[in-house]
Amino acid sequence: MAIIGAGRLGTALGLALKAAAANIEVVAAKRPLAARRAAEAFGPKTLALSAFQLSKLTPSQHARLNRCSLVLITTPDDNIAPVAKQLAAILKPKPVRSRDHKSGPAARRVVLHTSGALASDILEPLRSAGFAVGSLHPLVSISESRSGAESLTQAFFSLEGDPAAVHVGRLIVRGLGGESFTIDSRRKALYHAAAVIASPHMTALLDIAVEMLVLCGLSTTRARRILLPLVQSTLANLTTQDPARALTGTFKRGDVSTVQKHLAALGAANLPQALAAYIVLGQRSISLAKRRSANPAGLDEIMRILSRAAKGSSQR
Ligand SMILES: NC(=O)c1ccc[n+]([C@@H]2O[C@H](COP(=O)([O-])OP(=O)(O)OC[C@H]3O[C@@H](n4cnc5c(N)ncnc54)[C@H](OP(=O)(O)O)[C@@H]3O)[C@@H](O)[C@H]2O)c1
Repeated sequence: MAIIGAGRLGTALGLALKAAAANIEVVAAKRPLAARRAAEAFGPKTLALSAFQLSKLTPSQHARLNRCSLVLITTPDDNIAPVAKQLAAILKPKPVRSRDHKSGPAARRVVLHTSGALASDILEPLRSAGFAVGSLHPLVSISESRSGAESLTQAFFSLEGDPAAVHVGRLIVRGLGGESFTIDSRRKALYHAAAVIASPHMTALLDIAVEMLVLCGLSTTRARRILLPLVQSTLANLTTQDPARALTGTFKRGDVSTVQKHLAALGAANLPQALAAYIVLGQRSISLAKRRSANPAGLDEIMRILSRAAKGSSQR
């Protein structure tokens, strides 16, 4: 296989696939050094190519790239379309003659990208050139390639695209030890927005809480350390309970006067983002709490207070 993009995910995926006995023939990055570093991590036989070299391949480099039955595009989202166009001009879509891809739709060469937000149609130039195209998106956050390779072995991956590409995607995920599921290509942006809310937005939310604790006199490092066990215990509850049952605290109990104190403190501290997050997530917490509440009147009162606060903050 070839991996085009040797950043956090491309290198992690390459390491995990290599551990699962895949042969990584070619790895490419924008900068020669990044490509060389990844190739070294993948083993002595992997060819490293810079983006410039990819645009001016020697005959032997061309032959090696064309030997690959699978190409993974792991560049940033904005570079996927130009890379697809470039590859469509370089690669030959001839059928692959290997044991795994002997029959049926998998006999075509496959190109997969790993963006969560984009669907496989971004690879249209390759599809028109005769390749089976799809997307393979791991629902993990990878900030470093070695720990990322380990995370990938336990990850869920979404798949969409041409049947042959989805078939190969399933084989890849099974080989890694992860689990795959398919999604409707038209829902990819909504699917990805959900992933963003669950992961990067959770990081942003923690950052808001840290900012508030700093105003209480704690250092940022101490504030982060103090909050993490709270976050971890919440995640632990969510692994065994649905959100309505896992919800705890002020909104679960319907503590009206506490909510009033929170809103007053947030207003006085002049933290508009924290106030907006508190209101919108509070409204969602009320909906959750209502599903199993012993204090429906308190919850209704909090909802009214939050609606007034939302109007007040939007007029400011
Ligand atoms: N990281 C995650 O947690 C994660 C999780 C799921 C999905 N994804 C998806 O995976 C993709 C890559 O994300 P990432 O976080 O790994 O990005 P990244 O760390 O920025 O890596 C991108 C890589 O692409 C290379 N590149 C850029 N333009 C290129 C070109 N024209 N030709 C060849 N290589 C090129 C870069 O080269 P240089 O190193 O030389 O700049 C870099 O190695 C994105 O589609 C992202 O949405 C990422």
